[in-house]
Formats: sequence, C-alpha cells, structure tokens
Amino acid sequence: MPNTVLIGAQWGDEGKGKVVDVLSRDADVVVRYQGGSNAGHTIEIGSERYVLHLIPSGVLYPDKLCIIGNGLVVDPLELVKEMQALETRGIRLAGRFFVSDRAHAVLPLHRRLDTAREDRAGAGSKIGTTQRGIGPTYADKAHRTGIRMGDFLGTQWEARVRARAAEMAEPGDLDSMLKELAAAAAVLKPYIADATTLLYDAWKAGKNILFEGAQGTMLDIDHGTYPFVTSSNSTAGGASTGTGLPPKALERVVGVIKAYTTRVGEGPFPTELLDAEGEGLRKRGREFGATTGRPRRCGWFDAVVGRYAAHVNGADFWAVTKLDVLDACEVIKVCVAYECRGRRYETIPADIGLLAECKPVYVEYPGWKCETGRLTRFEDLPAKARHYVSELCRLTGVPLGILSVGPGRENTFRIAL
Ligand code: GDP
Ligand code: IMO
Ligand code: MG
Repeated sequence: MPNTVLIGAQWGDEGKGKVVDVLSRDADVVVRYQGGSNAGHTIEIGSERYVLHLIPSGVLYPDKLCIIGNGLVVDPLELVKEMQALETRGIRLAGRFFVSDRAHAVLPLHRRLDTAREDRAGAGSKIGTTQRGIGPTYADKAHRTGIRMGDFLGTQWEARVRARAAEMAEPGDLDSMLKELAAAAAVLKPYIADATTLLYDAWKAGKNILFEGAQGTMLDIDHGTYPFVTSSNSTAGGASTGTGLPPKALERVVGVIKAYTTRVGEGPFPTELLDAEGEGLRKRGREFGATTGRPRRCGWFDAVVGRYAAHVNGADFWAVTKLDVLDACEVIKVCVAYECRGRRYETIPADIGLLAECKPVYVEYPGWKCETGRLTRFEDLPAKARHYVSELCRLTGVPLGILSVGPGRENTFRIAL
C-alpha cells in the first residue's frame, strides 16, 4: 500500500475511524497527526463497538505500530483512560504504541479556559467546541508556553505548570491537578518516545504508513469556516508537519465523505435541513456526537464543499460512507453551487458572513427506496444508488475508492483501494 493520508472532506464525523480500520489491514504503521480528544472515531466489529479519541484506529489489529504524532495536543488523563479501556478489552499496547515527545499536553487548565471562553461568548461568537481544551493548548504552543509530552520524562514540568497556572484568574485546585498529572505521567513514561525518528526509520525501511486525520477539511484552521473551526490543520498538509515526515513521504490521499452532510457545533452550513427531512437523516444515521453526544446538524450533500476538499487535500480517491442512510428518501438533493447577493459561487467564499447567507442551488436525484444497509456486494446495489454515488464523484472530480453502506467491516466495498 502506498503511504496514505486519510482526511475528512466535510465537517468531521465522516466515518474516518471505520475507513482507517478497513485500510489498516494493508498498513504497517498508523499515525495520528493533529487534533486531540476532540475526535471521536467509531469502529464496529461484529457486536463490539470502539470509540477512539486519541489512539489511532489501527490499534484493533494486534500487529500494527500505532503512533500519536507531534502535531497532536494530548490530554494525559484522557489518554491513560483510553489505554486502560483498550487493555481491559484485551488490546495490548506495550511495545507497539508510542506518543511523540514533541506533542503538546492538554492540562486541566486548558480545559477550564476552553469552557470559560465558551460560557462567556455571546450568540454569534460561541464556537460550540468539544470543551476538551484543544484551542487553549494550541494557543499555548503558538505562544511558546506549552508543556510537551517529553517534559514528563524530566523534573521541570511541575514548576512550569505552576507558572502557567499563576497567570490564570481561576486555575482550580492546583495540588490535586499536579497529583493527577504525576500519576498519568508515571503510566505514560514508557510510551513517550521520539516518534519523528521512529517514523523516519519505518519510512526508510519501506513500511506502509497510514496517516489518520481527525476533524475535517471545513474545520481546518486555515481552510475551514474560520472562526468556526478547530485549532489545527486537519487537511492533508498537516500530515507532514504533524509527524515530521517530509511531504514527499505522502504518496496518496483518500478523502472520507458522507453521502449527505453533518456538522456539530456552530457556524455556517448552507445545505442544513431544519425540517423533518433533517430529523430523518439524524435518526437513520444515528447522528449524535461520538465525543460529546450532541445531536449533529444534518443536511444534503454539498458538492461545493466536496470540490473544495478535493482541491485543498489533493484527494486521489473518495471513501463514500453512510449511503444506506438515504435508503428511505423519495428524492435526494445535491448542492452544486451557491447563490448569494445576486451572484453564483462555485467555490467556498472566505467571507464567513457571505457564506452564512449563501443559498444552495440543488439538483435532484430519485431515491432507490430499498434497503442497502445489509448488502455485502457492490453489484447488488440498486442502479439508482450506484448512479447517485457516481454523480457525487463526477460533481467533485474524484474517483470512488471505497463505498460504505453500514458501520461494520463487512458493509464496505473496496472498489479501487
Ligand atoms: P469519524 O469521526 O469520522 O471517525 O466518524 P464517527 O465515528 O464520529 O461517526 C461516524 C458514525 O457512522 C459512527 O457511528 C460509525 O459507526 C457510523 N458509520 C460509518 N460508516 C457507516 C455507514 O456506511 N453506514 C452507517 N449507517 N453508519 C456508518
Ligand atoms: P472527528 O475526528 C466533528 C468541532 C466542534 C466545534 C469545532 C471546534 O470525530 O471527526 P474544538 O473542540 O476542536 O475546539 O471544537 O470543531 N469538532 C468536531 N466536529 N468531528 C470532530 O472530530 C470534531 N472535532 C472538533 O464541534 O464545532
Ligand atoms: Mg467523530
């Protein structure tokens, strides 16, 4: 398998966890490169369901090397919980799971800052974050006041946490926080490593590397719907800076894209459905956040977003997911352009106020009105369903690599990947 970057092409929750799990079979190494425990990646294997926030989704295969890259912000308390939950379910991590010593640590202080900012923000400026401390930790990284995971191997981190807390109005109970952090650091020590060198050596040895993106293109801090975004580069370019592997190590990009659209949190969403149709998608798609449990906003497929994601990421293939959720629709709409203030837009305007006013221009496709969710062969899909998928690919200019019609490994058609 060529080294593959897997990214979300919309606003996150496209089914990346499931697709990473499927592609991991052909990889030697699976590495996360940005984000933190704001991510919630779901994998269903038979009756078992796993939701991973920090640990790469390749971990369910016992022989894969799994790495948390330097580009992440890692909450040590959350990571220990996640590791223990996996170990309890019989998944061994020792010797094959490592956290970059260059990754920044999310401290309880950062979570408090995240929540306080959201509580303070008025309508229109609330982002609807996951309140996992992501923004404040990346801000400290950029301010050059952050604590890195490698710091937990030394003796200075406590003093630095105290110094950071002293700058805050309400740091919380510092002593109990330091105690919790010290306990987590003791568990994590054997896993903290120079991931940059580990990855370089794997690359040079010809190992196959799968880069697991979190969030999605429209949540990218540079390319998304700023300021209603996360604080990292979730697009394919982040895979290089977030791992230390050079751009030329990234050989292929696979975009995960839902057959409709969802968004959780605030911000513009041109194809959002605020009616029974949207409610139907939410119900059939079980669209409730894997991290926060919040109901996800639902709407029709937006080919303007898809085209933009194809360009920004250089997508070689789509993995189209959740086609089965559209099984009951009479008519399915796809947005092909926007109209706003008397103008037609074929790409995403940077002006967030303008984007919020954009009205979708739709084309309609007839629904197939039969169940696809249990199918295990691509040939058995109704012709109308196949036509719909081929239209999504045509309108966005990216060929189909994988099609998914259910949460399990067995409901996955590997067409070109
Ligand atoms: P991620 O953040 O991109 O990994 O996606 P999430 O795990 O947050 O959300 C995707 C949800 O859809 C999960 O509950 C998956 O189990 C589920 N899922 C993935 N692919 C399919 C599919 O093709 N059909 C259906 N019905 N569910 C799917
Ligand atoms: P996965 O990897 C969907 C959204 C939040 C909010 C914005 C900023 O599971 O696809 P943050 O906590 O990052 O500061 O929140 O980004 N968000 C996600 N939405 N899926 C995710 O991850 C998300 N991670 C963050 O809802 O709108
Ligand atoms: Mg998710």
